[in-house]
Amino acid sequence: MLLSSVGRSSLRLRAAPRESYIEISNYIRGRRTGLLSTVRNRPQQFGQFHAQQRLYEQPHIDSSRQPFLEQYKNAVEFPRATYDFRTFLSEASLGQEVVLHGYLGNRADLSKKLSFVRLTDPTMRHNIQIVASAKSGAFEKLKSIATNSPVAVRGIVQQKKGSKSERDAPDTEKIEAWEISLEDIHALNDFPKDIIMTSETVFPPEQRYLHLRTDRDLREALRFRAQVRNICKEELDQSQPPFVEIETPLLFKSTPEGAREFLVPTRRRGMAYALPQSPQQYKQILMASGIPRYYQFARCFRDEDLRADRQPEFTQLDLEMSFATGEDVMTTIEGVIRKLWSTLMKEPVPSGPFRRMSYQEAMRRYGSDKPDTRIGMEISPIDYLLPVDLISKITPLMDPIVEVFKFEGNDNDPKETQRFITEFLDSPAGAPFNNNPEGGPGIFIYDAKKPLCGLQPFGFEAAERIEDMLEPDHGDLIVLQARKRAPFSGGSTPMGDLRRALHTASVEKGFKPAATGFDFFWVVDFPLFSPSTDAEPGQGGAAGISSTHHPFTAPKTAADVDMLLTDPTQVVADHYDLVVNGVELGGGSRRIHDAKVQEFILRDILKMPPERLADFSHLLEALRAGCPPHAGIALGFDRLVAVMLGKESVRDVIAFPKTGKGEDPMVKAPTPMTEESLETYHLRLRDE
Ligand code: AMO
Repeated sequence: MLLSSVGRSSLRLRAAPRESYIEISNYIRGRRTGLLSTVRNRPQQFGQFHAQQRLYEQPHIDSSRQPFLEQYKNAVEFPRATYDFRTFLSEASLGQEVVLHGYLGNRADLSKKLSFVRLTDPTMRHNIQIVASAKSGAFEKLKSIATNSPVAVRGIVQQKKGSKSERDAPDTEKIEAWEISLEDIHALNDFPKDIIMTSETVFPPEQRYLHLRTDRDLREALRFRAQVRNICKEELDQSQPPFVEIETPLLFKSTPEGAREFLVPTRRRGMAYALPQSPQQYKQILMASGIPRYYQFARCFRDEDLRADRQPEFTQLDLEMSFATGEDVMTTIEGVIRKLWSTLMKEPVPSGPFRRMSYQEAMRRYGSDKPDTRIGMEISPIDYLLPVDLISKITPLMDPIVEVFKFEGNDNDPKETQRFITEFLDSPAGAPFNNNPEGGPGIFIYDAKKPLCGLQPFGFEAAERIEDMLEPDHGDLIVLQARKRAPFSGGSTPMGDLRRALHTASVEKGFKPAATGFDFFWVVDFPLFSPSTDAEPGQGGAAGISSTHHPFTAPKTAADVDMLLTDPTQVVADHYDLVVNGVELGGGSRRIHDAKVQEFILRDILKMPPERLADFSHLLEALRAGCPPHAGIALGFDRLVAVMLGKESVRDVIAFPKTGKGEDPMVKAPTPMTEESLETYHLRLRDE
């Protein structure tokens, strides 16, 4: 009764939107004027509302002109399935009458009296043959139903003609040996003729539901994602003491943590929430609240430039532990990773504590703070004086640092290597390297048939030094790159980016095989502060430096605490990033749990103005209330699943991802603000 009322009003919405609008506004007006007050106080108010609104309008709809209503009635009361497919395969027997749900496949009409069609089960993992003969009353009904329509099928399990039935046959064999003799079929909805859907059809992001429906791999990725989540949860729930799963608010406030935020205006003039970049502050406040171990699959929002591994809204496996150090957190995460690998992966389970690599070492050897260590091409500084004219050819910088790596080429045919590198540098992927203001890469092919093996521009002694350092083979590339003589900062150097881009291109072109396996390690000893840049909003302080990660990270040692007073840029952070195969999977730190020290960092080191400092007063107050030492981490959950499945982009493991422009083309979000909503939120658009 209730259902049909809802159905009727929503259908009317489509048929006559005006009437529905009247219906709603009458209802609201009725509530305001007290017209419905008696109704509201009585039970069954929903049905009463519909009776009441007939006072206002009584639309007359000719039911004979609405055949879709008749069809819809069939779907409202459809037969329950006697089995899901898996249970069917293990429990059903020959001769039994069954009802199965699923999607109808392409029909093959063998004659005017006999048709075959496959029924794909709702999980779209299995399908079974349905055979319909003209003797069955459902024969014509079947023919009237379009391929891909959802259906309920009633029929008798029988052995396929010509195949030998075996009761104990494995599931897959039963699917082949059994069929359903059709008794009746209900179409539960239509599949429109204007949608062409085959397994080869490529659907645009606007039709993500059809993409999902045709791409088994994508659906499996979502199932896998759910499994990963369950295993992480199980591992954390079972640890001693157990972690407690706690949801923290999504309507948060704007605080200068590091990334650009999304604001949520409210109807209260000039007041806005901000969506959380991460639950960082709430989880630290939980530590001050006597929750010893917290975790959450947290939705996070960042208005930042998007890449294959970044989404404006994404999920973190976020956790925090009180009376703990970074060591405890790293051990916990290693346990989660090991559990995931041992349960879900065919690869060897990472053993022992993951090794550690300092930020300085990662940047020096790989030019990246999240290096893919599987691909070789280690970077070395050239410690031997290079000829001035060679340096001036590769960089306009005075007194640069020049670095080098070897890219293994085709040892039979240096021309092949030459072709690859020329194509790369001429491609869009090569453009940023050619346009580097510090100079483009200098690339030499090591060719045993040429004088000095093609290294004449180095001069005899430097060429010999390069040979000693890199031990190149015929056909290899020697890649030079200059950079400013300055301490490392940021996530990578142009040389590190080139190393990565060359490897990616070489795999894409089939020049090299893709790297295999998983190499997990922790990158540690990051600088606590980095020079502020225009690219990142930082914390808005006036010191010219920003927290490298976020301003709640603790200095690593007592000596680092001292250095806060003398040279903050030299302070090492107690921060750790989990890196695997060139992906920063997660990041965390031990926190400053002392309110005075936290305030000192914000006010005296970062030089935040008082009004910004006030934004953090809730956290400072919570720390002041005897907050225990604590540490935590957040794993990028989308990235974790993508890495496990070997996907290039997190979009391949998210049901409804945003595009590179941060849009959802299916629902068409974001939408322009209407005059009405601008008014509601007291906003005015500025002329650009
Ligand atoms: P951080 O900013 O390093 O740390 O984020 C933790 C992890 O989240 C993932 N990640 C993203 N994934 C998809 N799209 C994005 N835009 C995106 N941004 C980050 C990464 C990253 O390593 N509050 C701290 C954690 C802590 O200190 O406990 C934080 O958010 O895998």
